[in-house]
Amino acid sequence: MNTPAKVTTSQIRADFLAFFKGKGHTIVPSAPLVPGNDPTLLFTNSGMVQFKDVFLGAEKRSYVRAADVQRCLRAGGKHNDLDSVGYTARHHTFFEMLGNWSFGDYFKKDAIAWAWELLTGVWKLPAERLLVTVYHNDDEAYALWRDMVGVPEERIVRIGDNKGAPYASDNFWQMADTGPCGPCTEIFYDHGEHIAGGPPGSPDEDGDRFIEIWNLVFMQFDRQPDGTLVPLPAPCVDTGMGLERLAAILQHVHTNYEIDLFQTLIGRAAALTGTADLENKSLRVIADHIRACAFLIVDGVLPSNEGRGYVLRRIIRRALRHGWMLGVRQPFFSAMVPTLVELMGEAYPELPAAAATVEKALLAEEERFAETLDAGMKIFDDVAAKVGDGIIPGAEAFRLYDTYGFPVDLTADIARERGMTVDMAGFDSAMEHQREMARAAGKFGGGVQLPAELVATLSPTVFLGYEQLQADGLKVVALLKDGRPVDTVQAGDAVIVFTAQTPFYAESGGQVGDHGVLSANGVEIAVSDTQKFAGQFHGHVGTVKQGTIKLGDVLSGAIDTTRRGATILNHSATHLLHAALREVLGTHVQQKGSLVAPDRLRFDFSHFQPITAEELALVERKVNEQVRANNAAEVHHMGMQEALDFGAMALFGEKYGEHVRVLKMGDYSTELCGGTHVARTGDIGLFKITSEGGVSSGVRRIEAVTGQGALDHVDAEEARLAEAAHLLGGAASDVVDKIRQLGERQKKLERELEALKAKLASGATADLGASAVAINGVKVLAARLEGFDAKALREAVDRLKQQLGDAVVLLAGTQDGKASLVAGVSGAALGRVKAGELLAHVAGQIGGKGGGRPDMAQGGGEDGPKLVAALEGVSEWVRPHLA
Ligand code: ALA
Repeated sequence: MNTPAKVTTSQIRADFLAFFKGKGHTIVPSAPLVPGNDPTLLFTNSGMVQFKDVFLGAEKRSYVRAADVQRCLRAGGKHNDLDSVGYTARHHTFFEMLGNWSFGDYFKKDAIAWAWELLTGVWKLPAERLLVTVYHNDDEAYALWRDMVGVPEERIVRIGDNKGAPYASDNFWQMADTGPCGPCTEIFYDHGEHIAGGPPGSPDEDGDRFIEIWNLVFMQFDRQPDGTLVPLPAPCVDTGMGLERLAAILQHVHTNYEIDLFQTLIGRAAALTGTADLENKSLRVIADHIRACAFLIVDGVLPSNEGRGYVLRRIIRRALRHGWMLGVRQPFFSAMVPTLVELMGEAYPELPAAAATVEKALLAEEERFAETLDAGMKIFDDVAAKVGDGIIPGAEAFRLYDTYGFPVDLTADIARERGMTVDMAGFDSAMEHQREMARAAGKFGGGVQLPAELVATLSPTVFLGYEQLQADGLKVVALLKDGRPVDTVQAGDAVIVFTAQTPFYAESGGQVGDHGVLSANGVEIAVSDTQKFAGQFHGHVGTVKQGTIKLGDVLSGAIDTTRRGATILNHSATHLLHAALREVLGTHVQQKGSLVAPDRLRFDFSHFQPITAEELALVERKVNEQVRANNAAEVHHMGMQEALDFGAMALFGEKYGEHVRVLKMGDYSTELCGGTHVARTGDIGLFKITSEGGVSSGVRRIEAVTGQGALDHVDAEEARLAEAAHLLGGAASDVVDKIRQLGERQKKLERELEALKAKLASGATADLGASAVAINGVKVLAARLEGFDAKALREAVDRLKQQLGDAVVLLAGTQDGKASLVAGVSGAALGRVKAGELLAHVAGQIGGKGGGRPDMAQGGGEDGPKLVAALEGVSEWVRPHLA
């Protein structure tokens, strides 16, 4: 067998795309790791995610064949490989998937033929090293492999439902619990007899000898939440080949970590951590995790305590802990970024563009975690030393999480290295907190959904509301009651009404949905919200007030124009605010969340330090300058690429089609946006920021008001000022002076009060001196002084010692149920009575403690009857010492 030349990972990407371009495929860029508008998925876990709606028939593209190199993440949700990373030859959190697609175009025959041609023809893999699997009843794929390609029958394996349920099989692929799915055929590479492991379907298939390299999925169904499979509008092809695995084969190495890309990352990690042993598993973990973390941040995720941000934080902390194990006590992880940019920046231009943000975000997280890692590891060691059964109690794992920010899988990871486990059930029940987080993650299950068979019959809702606030001729195309499709609804029903067109804006891009009325003769529906379903159908959520509505009926719709009118001011102002923040703070500012409501706007964005009052004032001023410039808000329709070339800002986590709507206000703001906006910026009237603060690490929030809302805000502030002026007995313009005067007066009064108190105290203690009893020539005094603090007590004791000469004094000052104690010994009593002992004796009786020198001691305890008794007992305690 002649050994083919080594192929670099860059070359593999290029070969793959060129091959499929030659077969009529359109080359599509990688989608972000955060899927656009998909509530069923945490992360893009395979190449097909961006095409999900195309499979479902809900979205059309201008091509029917596509190919790409997609960045993917499998850490959290279905397909989670985080725990295995570093410990196996080929598990990754982040990986790259080479894929080709047919949307109702070619099917099994071409998919199989081309896969074989590329592997054996272009990359010259020896055919005798390849094996294939097919879904157990897929005779068509079986025959194609045997008869068309010529794979001998002993190297075609049928795989059945081997995961405990119908269609749960290694050869039946699905993206998530619901959505597109279908049988698949997989191509395996035999790394050779010298490596342990059996062929697919055999008991030792998990060994490393036979490695799956390419999965060809024949997408045919849409899996419903109840498990039923509904056929897709047309059969499709979805293939996925792991770039790293393929590179290992084409570079004649056995594990993914030996390929060019990982060798460079591992080398850098070794240098940064001062590790000589390049085989160290921790280096692999770091090399893997830097890719996942950097691209998550590129795609708009920042470390936080919930949802995607929490997964990111877990991965970062796992990497940092491995650095810690290598003895690193300084930030190192963020320093991996430039190397990563060198390696992958050409294939993914979004990486170099965001490199500075990635480094900052990682460094901030490193600094934060460094503070707790040391302490947390000590706690772990203590706990580990105590447990007898090798199981870390759940409560301890929770404590590590809660106090030291140790994600539980990090604790489990550390435990595993020491041959221990974590009581996960105990952890779960200790963690009410975590349940909340799970609930937050639970929202990734989606709410009411339009059934797929209904989606297939509907056309996307035509939105009339950019121009019209009222419209007639709205034909009812679907009705939902209790989340289910029905043919009629009547008075009293809570419904969701879908019409072919509508002036009602459906909540998206942060802008709230419209309210209003749908009506016809004798029919009225009060619409209390409008939501988007399956990304493109406006559902009017409301209650039927009168009449009966059937499918096919024609309604008129009128939105609440006051509400919409106020909302659009906030929406346009949000764009101006975004632009102003980028101008004032820097272009690392990215939108992280937005709410555009009638009464206010809320804007979350990435920024790594507090915003100063000056910066905030400048941002507000810039926005108002744009308002006064009164530029037209122009709307342009164009292709996505054209829009980006046009300088439009696209937001992370939003899904854009091939054709986009661009909103441009002067030369200041250009953003992709489907929302509704003002005609001219001057309509906004006035923009006022009402609050600014941090929401999580690296994310700040600004709230603001516009238009009448801003004027109301100013009025309210003025009214408060007038009230303050009134209370101060002056005019609003004098308020600051008056307050300053008041402050000075207050300070003066406080000083006077202090002086008076001291005078009073010395008067009180002078009288006290008279009540001392003489025991063998020594004056003994114990007394309770209401309202005295420790300082006043010490001064009083000093004075009494002066006044009485040979003395033993114990004073208790009481305040709010507590007692402060001070004891003093002077003159001939010194050496016979110890102030510290006396104090301890008294404090002990009132539930407190204290101590000090032989001549002076202090402490405290509870005020109450016990204190009175304790004071009465002082002379008795002292007497024997003076005998
Ligand atoms: N979607 C298929 C996979 O991820 C190709 O394996």
